[in-house]
Amino acid sequence: MTETVLTGTVVPGDRRGRELGFPTANVELHDSEATLPPDGVYEGWLEDMGGIRRLAAVSIGGRPTYYGAHGARLLEAYVLDFSGDLYGQRVRVGVRSVVRGQERFSSSEQLIAQMHRDVEAVRRVASARA
Ligand SMILES: Cc1cc2nc3c(=O)[nH]c(=O)nc-3n(C[C@H](O)[C@H](O)[C@H](O)COP(=O)(O)O)c2cc1C
Repeated sequence: MTETVLTGTVVPGDRRGRELGFPTANVELHDSEATLPPDGVYEGWLEDMGGIRRLAAVSIGGRPTYYGAHGARLLEAYVLDFSGDLYGQRVRVGVRSVVRGQERFSSSEQLIAQMHRDVEAVRRVASARA
């Protein structure tokens, strides 16, 4: 298994994630963008400042549903089974198996439905590895 580990600070996003029911930690990377894996949705983990590591669905890309082909590339992590606040924290993110590529959906509802499937895929991949 290849695993890319990145370090960054959690910064406020557009807050849309909360509206969608999938709040994400938007991670401003300390590493150069060259280390960022290709755009896609990945099974991964996020480790908070206290060293607690949790399973995450990691999205890398320009959010084509909202910004077309020209959105700034960013790394966002939806941390599973977690409702805390990570803003301002220096975190580490592990990017592991790719689940799918980034897609442009024609509505937020379609993206939400896909994110539910992504979370199930992430759980399946993680439990198959354990
Ligand atoms: C598991 C996951 C999969 C995602 N897949 C896509 C995608 O295929 N296309 C897309 O445009 N955005 C995708 N996103 C990004 C969402 O558009 C983004 O999280 C949402 O717009 C909230 O942005 P914000 O954190 O800046 O508010 C994904 C996010 C997550 C967590």
